[in-house]
Amino acid sequence: MPSYAITGAARGIGFEYVNQLSADSGNTVFALVRNKATATKLEELGRHNVHIIEADITDTKALKDAAAEVSSRTGSSLDYLINNAAFVEPERDGLTLDSYSSAELLTKDLLDSFNINVIAIIHTINIFLPLLKNGKAKTVVTLSSGLGDLDMTMVAEFANSAPYSISKAAVNMVNAKYATQYKPEGFVFLALSPGLVDTSTRAPTEKELEQFKAMLGNFRNVAPDFTGPITPETSVRMQLEVINRLTVNDTGAFISHKGNKEWL
Ligand SMILES: NC(=O)c1ccc[n+]([C@@H]2O[C@H](COP(=O)([O-])OP(=O)(O)OC[C@H]3O[C@@H](n4cnc5c(N)ncnc54)[C@H](OP(=O)(O)O)[C@@H]3O)[C@@H](O)[C@H]2O)c1
Repeated sequence: MPSYAITGAARGIGFEYVNQLSADSGNTVFALVRNKATATKLEELGRHNVHIIEADITDTKALKDAAAEVSSRTGSSLDYLINNAAFVEPERDGLTLDSYSSAELLTKDLLDSFNINVIAIIHTINIFLPLLKNGKAKTVVTLSSGLGDLDMTMVAEFANSAPYSISKAAVNMVNAKYATQYKPEGFVFLALSPGLVDTSTRAPTEKELEQFKAMLGNFRNVAPDFTGPITPETSVRMQLEVINRLTVNDTGAFISHKGNKEWL
């Protein structure tokens, strides 16, 4: 009975991980959400093998309580940890590092991105490591982004989404640090980009639509035939194919849902 813990599972890619993994009744799936009251889609799944646990990943006490609950249900083990939760600043995503209206706002976005997308992930891994050591798969997948790739940034000529991109580049190094430390114990640490995925929950504003079109233009510098985002269903299916093929020799990799460095 493989066990999976997924952070940020109330919506988007995290929800779809829970949906696809729990379709196999042999899997035990722990869906970590920031606020149980908003986890209506997970409740609606009505699957006996899904356990919804409240944990904001910036709250180490909540993470420890979550790990204790997982431990009590699995006999102190966990096979897969999927670090999916992330901070994306929607209002200022279109800005470059030098186009913020104030230094304070830029600092805020850099700190929020680093706190949630890097530091909170390190704490999540540390808190779940004792359970993962007792698991069979010993696999930690951290959702990264092609925006954290230096070559992609240069070829796409994509200067905005800077705090987010910087945090994803940093978490790739976090992944490598754990990978090199835990390879001898048979662990696989993977930084995985899901592709460009439509996880929107509302229609875009005119400004967002404009930014999105500009971004697609940038992305076509990398992939001229790129047509647009894929669905969470497609992305998670492809991510799971990558995860299911992993061996310890892949540890430390930063790859995409396609299993390579094609980010789109
Ligand atoms: N969508 C894409 O095109 C794309 C591309 C590249 C990489 N990614 C990466 O893929 C992952 C999932 O993306 P997504 O598009 O599904 O994101 P999303 O729709 O914005 O959902 C993010 C999830 O993270 C949760 N979250 C945010 N801060 C949290 C915190 N402090 N503690 C716990 N949970 C928190 C949110 O909880 P609430 O529901 O409570 O707000 C939400 O469930 C992220 O790591 C993202 O960076 C996505």
